[in-house]
Amino acid sequence: MSLRIAVVNGDGIGPEVIPEAQKILEHFLPDADFYEVELGLAKWERSGSACSPDDIRELKGADAILFGAVTTPPDPNYRSVLLQIRHELDLYANLRPIRPLRSSGQGSPADMMIVRENTEGLYSGIEEIGEERSTTLRVVTKAGSKRIAEKACSLILERNSKSPLVIGYKGNVLKSDLLFRDTCSEVAASFGIQTKAVFIDALCLDVLQHPKNYDVIVTTNMFGDILSDVCGYLTGGLGMLPSANIGDTHAFFEPVHGSAPDIAGKGIANPVAAIRSAAMMLEYFGMKREACLVEESIADLINSGVCTPDLGGCESTSSFGNRLLAAVCKKE
Ligand code: NAI
Ligand code: MG
Repeated sequence: MSLRIAVVNGDGIGPEVIPEAQKILEHFLPDADFYEVELGLAKWERSGSACSPDDIRELKGADAILFGAVTTPPDPNYRSVLLQIRHELDLYANLRPIRPLRSSGQGSPADMMIVRENTEGLYSGIEEIGEERSTTLRVVTKAGSKRIAEKACSLILERNSKSPLVIGYKGNVLKSDLLFRDTCSEVAASFGIQTKAVFIDALCLDVLQHPKNYDVIVTTNMFGDILSDVCGYLTGGLGMLPSANIGDTHAFFEPVHGSAPDIAGKGIANPVAAIRSAAMMLEYFGMKREACLVEESIADLINSGVCTPDLGGCESTSSFGNRLLAAVCKKE
């Protein structure tokens, strides 16, 4: 049976970058059935729901989902589409590889993986909003910490890493993070893996100063969200960072960036983050060679000056996408 791939373009630059990523998927998966699911701001304005139960059913029917980004409207009753999808599909592991593609002339580039717990923490969606006092509950469970730590440890083994598992946390202030740290340490010990627990604020600086010291970093939901944007600095910006949201039964691939309303409609958004997310999907389907080919082709183009304005080039979103497809075909 052919693969079913749900495509959500979303808002802002989503409909500009996602078609470029879809082109690459269509090239390598010519028999796949791609179907669009409309989610986001326009739908919310029209129907009062940015993501309905029917949409969730549609997404659940896919072997994998390619997602652009959605814009958050300034309405306290709006429910985050992403939180909803991550919870409904139980996409508990958010994998955010940080691997610069631009050659720096300083030996091998940094290569790390941020493993972000994706269903709990401050993004559990348990909030009480008032005029005088608003609260957001931060939830850390043993079971949630255990399964994300297991994912991080299996990645360390897969990557043949000799480095310890770094745990990003803030247990000096947030006691809930002691449960996270201790559970991660217990899991790592059962895998025979060393750990190093680092306070998240110090970690944000150190990954920028010494990126090559890091391999796999496991952390809670909001810290992982922030740390990955911070690491955008190492890769040339948000236009470069892909991610995978993986659960036991569903998989969802999206650029780390949002809908970038400041540049939407101009045709200048960098599609690389979306395309690398598509490459992660290929890898998820067992097509590691094809995923590497995409990564290498992107690196070749960027290193020869073929890139969008955020990286100092003059390609448009679609001209970069077309040149990449041509480069991939040539390399095959
Ligand atoms: P953003 O990631 O959309 O943009 C931050 C900055 O990075 C902007 O200056 C933007 O132009 C630049 N940028 C982002 N992607 C780029 C690309 N591919 N090429 C070139 N430059 C790029 O974050 P921001 O501005 O905080 O949020 C904008 C909207 O997106 C908000 O409504 C927010 O809620 C939503 N958002 C949605 C996400 C999602 O759907 N996954 C994730 C993050 C934000
Ligand atoms: Mg983010």
